[in-house]
Amino acid sequence: MTTDIRGNALSCSDDAARRLDAAMAKFHIYQADPVAEIDALLAEQPDCVMAHAFRAGIFATTTDKTFDAELQSSLAAAEALAPRANAREGAYIAAARRWADGDLQAATETWAGIAIAHPTDLLAVQFAQLGDFFLGQSQMLRDRVARVMPHWQRGMPGHGYLLGMHAFGLEECADFAGAEAAGREAVAIDPRDGWAAHAVAHVMEMQGRAAEGAAFMQATAPGWSPDSLFAFHNWWHVALFCIDQGDIAGALRLFDERVSAGGFGQALEAIDGSALLWRLWVLGHDVGERWSQVSPRWTDRIGHGVYAFNDVHAMMAFVGTGDRTAQLAVVETLERAAVGTGTNAMMSRDVGLPLARGLMAFGQGDYAGAVRHILPARGIANRFGGSHAQRDVLSWTLCEAAIRAGDARMADAMVAERLAAKEGSPVAQGWAVRARSLRRPLAA
Ligand SMILES: [Fe+2]
Repeated sequence: MTTDIRGNALSCSDDAARRLDAAMAKFHIYQADPVAEIDALLAEQPDCVMAHAFRAGIFATTTDKTFDAELQSSLAAAEALAPRANAREGAYIAAARRWADGDLQAATETWAGIAIAHPTDLLAVQFAQLGDFFLGQSQMLRDRVARVMPHWQRGMPGHGYLLGMHAFGLEECADFAGAEAAGREAVAIDPRDGWAAHAVAHVMEMQGRAAEGAAFMQATAPGWSPDSLFAFHNWWHVALFCIDQGDIAGALRLFDERVSAGGFGQALEAIDGSALLWRLWVLGHDVGERWSQVSPRWTDRIGHGVYAFNDVHAMMAFVGTGDRTAQLAVVETLERAAVGTGTNAMMSRDVGLPLARGLMAFGQGDYAGAVRHILPARGIANRFGGSHAQRDVLSWTLCEAAIRAGDARMADAMVAERLAAKEGSPVAQGWAVRARSLRRPLAA
């Protein structure tokens, strides 16, 4: 029987199995380029059903309209070959179909079900974790990995990658010590493991260890940065560390040299570019012409109602360029999606729309309106996915909006939250000084 490197049955040839192992090893740590490896395999062995299902899963979990044609073609090929697939491969096809049809929850549970039945199937664990990430399901980011760990031992191929996935889940569940230990161990096993280094960066971000985080990422970058499809995001984290240390020039340099290096060819890159510029712009820093680098890359991606998280980041870029027509188009996209079907309808209705309206209000100088829209949605913003660090942009915006609105009570409240989380942050301390200046002297 043909199996993958960890003994899971495959319906393809032994040669295809080894090539799938190689492509998956790259995908596990987001090294370039698993799709090229799959395509080379399929050029010679087009009947390899797992290759099509794997490819469909990769494109599904980009949450990027740009890759929809690739997703659909892989899915069609996989479904045509489904009669020759084994049960595990068939479940991969079903999961990708559910994602393509807009039911992210069902797709994620399907990938997770594969991992329950086949606990050494690392690809299933990874796709499920990506699904949980896009669904904002922090606890499952941790527990779907934890549930397979008894079936793994040190030295098994990919064990370090599993540790990296667990590290991220632990971090999102605020087990920072456990996350840091697992992430550091995974990086030691394979220095190319950018996902594990990323988990450590998240720990540093959440604990306000900006200087230490920047140093860790710079020290490990020679391992994870070259030939990576994900390095832009790790460099985005470094840029956040720069801002938190008052190094604005450093943050802008990272935007220029790293975050924008891929030309925002992936939606995830456009998210990071927009979120970085937004943080700087909201603080009043001059970001030059950079908004006009990222905003055109959103133009083709909005209007489809694929993923509200993307639409909100598109709004940041369109507020940055002052493009009122595009801002309204984002709102219309979200309004249409909100009355549609699938997971994104809930995301758009509950979270995407109020946040988009809040950001638009901020751009118009209606800071009280920005607070009014964003504040109630922030508490449930996990429903539209992303990490705590990504959603932190909402707290960031609320601090600035409350201060600019001159709302002393609200500013005090927002800044108190911030100081509790990151007392030593110059950004937080700057807000604290401005919030205090809003307080009226007590009547004699
Ligand atoms: Fe991150």
